[in-house]
Amino acid sequence: MKSFYEAIGILNKNKKEKEQISILLEIPFEMLEYYNNNHILPDSGVLNRIEQKIGISKFDIMLKMGIYTQKLKECLSNKSSILSLDNNIDLINNTNVELAFKTNFGKLYHGDCLDLLSTLENESFDLIFADPPFNLNKLYPSNINDNLKKSEYLEWCEKWLDECIRTLKIGGSLFIWNLPKWNTYLSLYLNERLTFRHWISVDIKYSLPIKGRLYPSHYSLLYYVKGEKPKTFKPDRLPMEVCGKCFNEIKDYGGYKNKMNPLGISLTDVWYDIPPVRHPKYKARKDANELSVKLLDRIIEMSTDVGDTIFDPFGGAGTTYITAEIKQRKWIGIEIGPLDDIINRFKNIQTDRNLILKYRNNYNHLFSPTVEKKRIENHLWTCKK
Ligand SMILES: C[S@@+](CC[C@H](N)C(=O)[O-])C[C@H]1O[C@@H](n2cnc3c(N)ncnc32)[C@H](O)[C@@H]1O
Repeated sequence: MKSFYEAIGILNKNKKEKEQISILLEIPFEMLEYYNNNHILPDSGVLNRIEQKIGISKFDIMLKMGIYTQKLKECLSNKSSILSLDNNIDLINNTNVELAFKTNFGKLYHGDCLDLLSTLENESFDLIFADPPFNLNKLYPSNINDNLKKSEYLEWCEKWLDECIRTLKIGGSLFIWNLPKWNTYLSLYLNERLTFRHWISVDIKYSLPIKGRLYPSHYSLLYYVKGEKPKTFKPDRLPMEVCGKCFNEIKDYGGYKNKMNPLGISLTDVWYDIPPVRHPKYKARKDANELSVKLLDRIIEMSTDVGDTIFDPFGGAGTTYITAEIKQRKWIGIEIGPLDDIINRFKNIQTDRNLILKYRNNYNHLFSPTVEKKRIENHLWTCKK
């Protein structure tokens, strides 16, 4: 297996040559070093520039570095010679996307996310969040096929992931929400293309107990960053858990509670406090796998700043878009099925705004003002004494 520099025919030792390549390819020198030192395959935008300017095809680079896609593996096993590999296998038809709705911060398109992605510039987004269909044979209003063969589902995921990686800015964050089963595969794919940050387990029961198996109790939220480190990383701190009746703390802090940070408890990679969206009052779409604004608020707060740009390729009920709008981030969205639920949600934006405000009131202090007052009344310790 060759390193990135070997794959494009330059010597690691020759700093001058590397600097010239960095200028020719319009890639920061540190990113070239990052690809080489971490054995990372550059995104398809960079690979295309290498092909145009140095004349080495992306397939050559993948083969030399020993990094494959489902499609490439399939081609290799079906063809007698790699010389016959079709360079156009990833070509996307970009005709059927229309801009359907605009807000102060965002644009919502109707159509297939792959069609839209193929029209977007390299390095456009600070954050991409994706919650794709889980291939569980679910009936979607758009009638998409949610019962693909495993290899077809993974090949489809690799296509939109490649485009997400290409359109992510350096330092930008990518979050993928899926069942643990699928995220084990997607994670392998992403490890060769981005920097792994976390596998976050979000504790939500998502089906009934199954005989002979453990009761599935978490979704997987993959968190990756493009390049060495994130541009923005500001995780919220959470309140101390207290009993709803007596306001005493639920966990034992081993005699150290007086030393706890008054700004709250550090966020871990296991999230127990994200509610499922079941109540019709809060559900923007009937029969949909709609996520809580609490989840998107946390992700957006952690990985972006006001004014940054967010993309979500799978609109659903528009949870990412409404949260981005409320938090004053620019956003681009797309949904292949009907858009009415998303558009109607923006007419009632105050409902989601109130929910987000309610959640945010609890963050970044050990006790919310209400809990603090109750603890003082009950002669319990607070940060103030
Ligand atoms: C699991 S839902 C997303 C729910 C969303 N995160 C929310 O909280 O409301 C997935 C959505 O992706 C849409 N979808 C599936 N394939 C698509 C594609 N190729 N392009 C755009 N949208 C697609 C489906 O119609 C479905 O509404």
